[in-house]
Amino acid sequence: MSRDGLLAGLKVVIDAGPTCEDIDPVRFLGNRSSGKMGFAIAAAAGAAGAEVTLVAGPVALATPAGVARRIDVRSALQMRDAVFSVIDAADIFIATAAVADWRVASYSERKIKKEPSGTPILELVENPDILAEVAARSPRPFVVGFAAETDHVLENGRKKLARKKLDMLAANHVDATSGIGADDNALEVLWADGGVSLPRAPKPDLAKALVACIAARYRARMHA
Ligand code: CTP
Repeated sequence: MSRDGLLAGLKVVIDAGPTCEDIDPVRFLGNRSSGKMGFAIAAAAGAAGAEVTLVAGPVALATPAGVARRIDVRSALQMRDAVFSVIDAADIFIATAAVADWRVASYSERKIKKEPSGTPILELVENPDILAEVAARSPRPFVVGFAAETDHVLENGRKKLARKKLDMLAANHVDATSGIGADDNALEVLWADGGVSLPRAPKPDLAKALVACIAARYRARMHA
């Protein structure tokens, strides 16, 4: 770990990957997040000297060098518990996870069988918004959110920045070749009175650039 890096001496909590919401012992609701962006940010933050805690949904990725602690979870509720177990000490929280918006209202202990009487109807309930909950705390860490947008990236990103009361938002262009699950990405990084475009690049390079941005804005806020 670098002692004189951009994030030296800071505690950073990052959530990453998808969450899986179990329906029964064999089925779940999930999404296409690979966790690559979050893991790349964890690696870049560790290389910048931060003490990194990585809360990971179900992903097939090795823990990057420089990550001090990894907590593996499956569901949104578990991810929220894991984040909240470490957030008090955090200086910076970076929410990269693709948290499932809904879970089933009641998990079936038994595998749901096909019945001649008809198809099952799943009742869904909304999951907590981990990012918004962290942003609503007082005191709170410097809070960075992500947004996956297909259209009007800047406009929707600005709305999300304000609505969730974030310090910074990294808006993802999602299409067939970048964003969720891909190796490359491009980001529009926004904060209340500014922003910067990080052009399309492999996720490790982009993560390094984003970490530099976060470090600069964090220091600016501390000295404001
Ligand atoms: N997030 C979260 N908990 C949730 C949902 C989202 O922490 N239950 C976080 C994600 O980690 C991400 C940001 O919120 O940092 C994404 O916000 P969201 O409103 O879910 O944005 P989109 O997925 O882009 O959805 P939409 O555009 O439909 O609002």
